[in-house]
Amino acid sequence: MDGYSPIILTDDDRFYILDQRKLPAVVEYIEANNINSVCKAIKDMAVRGAPLIGITAAIGLYFGIKDSNSLDELNAQFHKAYECLSKTRPTAVNLFWALDKMKRVKNEKELILPLEKLIKKIRATAISIWEEQKKVDELIGEAGSEFLKGKKRILTHCNTGTLATGGIGTALGIIKTMYKKGELELVYVDETRPYLQGMRLTAFELKQEGIDYKIITDNSCGMLFKKKLVDAVVVGADRIAKNGDTANKIGTYCLASMCKKHGITFVVAAPESTIDRTIKSMDEIPVEERNKEEVLKIAGRYLTPENSDALYYSFDLTEAELISAIITERGVFKHPYNF
Ligand code: MRU
Repeated sequence: MDGYSPIILTDDDRFYILDQRKLPAVVEYIEANNINSVCKAIKDMAVRGAPLIGITAAIGLYFGIKDSNSLDELNAQFHKAYECLSKTRPTAVNLFWALDKMKRVKNEKELILPLEKLIKKIRATAISIWEEQKKVDELIGEAGSEFLKGKKRILTHCNTGTLATGGIGTALGIIKTMYKKGELELVYVDETRPYLQGMRLTAFELKQEGIDYKIITDNSCGMLFKKKLVDAVVVGADRIAKNGDTANKIGTYCLASMCKKHGITFVVAAPESTIDRTIKSMDEIPVEERNKEEVLKIAGRYLTPENSDALYYSFDLTEAELISAIITERGVFKHPYNF
C-alpha cells in the first residue's frame, strides 16, 4: 500500500499508531509512547488485524521496559507490560506468539548482555517480527496467487491487508499479487459489520492499489454465488487449530458454508504464527465478545429502539473440512490438515 504505514517507530523512539477507527475519512496517528497507550490502542481497535496486533504488542513491550535502570526493574516492567498486552484481544494468537517470542529472547539474553544492550536487543527483536511479517506476506501472496490461477473474481471478508499485517497483507496480499500478475478482474468486499473493516479499510487499500472492487452487504454471498459472480473466497485468520479449524472475523463461517453448498473454492491465508499447535480443534479457541454498543451504534448513533440488547461475537469458527486450502509462507495445505 503506497501511502500510510499502520504503525511508525522512529529512530528517536516515538511510536505512532494509525487510528484505523477513523479511516478512510480521517488519516490520524495516535502517539503511543508508553505501555498503557499501546494496550488501549489494541483493545479499542485503533490498531487491529492478528499479525499487526502481534507486532504492535512486541513494540509495546519494548516501550514498557525501555527506561529500566536495572535488570530487576526491567523484569518487573516486562511482566507488567506482558500482562497488560495479553489481556487486550483474546482470539488473535499472533499476540501471544509475539509476546512469547519477546520473552524468550529477553530470558536468553539477560544472562549474557549488559542492561543497555539487552534493551537494544529487545527493541531489535520487535522490529525483526515486523520485518519477518513483510517477507511472509510476500510468500503467501505468491503461493496463493499460484493456487488461485484462473479465478478472477474474488470475494473477501474483513481487512487482511497492510492495515492488518504491516506488509502487503495475507488474503489481501494474495489479491494484490493476483492483480500485479494481471490475473484479477474484480474484488467483492464484504462490508464486515459492525466495525466495517471491509467497506472502510479493504476498500481504502484496494483504491490505493487501483484495483476494481464492489462493496457488498454482509448478507449478499448467497445471491452472488447463485448468480455465479464469484470464483473464490479468500479470507485471513486469527487462530488456526492443529486440525485446521479456523477462527476469523464473524461471518467467515457463513461464507465457508455457502461456498461448500455452491462448490466455490474457500481459501484461508495466514502466517505460521497464526497456527496454534497447542490446541487440537476449534473447541479450545477463545472467541472474543466485544461491547454490544459497537453493534447498537452506527457511526456513533443509536439506530435501535431505546435500551435494545445485542450479542456480539467478534469472531466465528469454521471447521477445517469447509476450507479448500490453508496458505501459509510454507505453501498450500489441504484437508486433512495436521499442522
Ligand atoms: O477484529 P479485527 O479487525 O482485528 O479482526 C481481523 C480479522 O479477523 C482478520 O481477518 C484476521 O485478523 C487476519 S488479518 C491478516
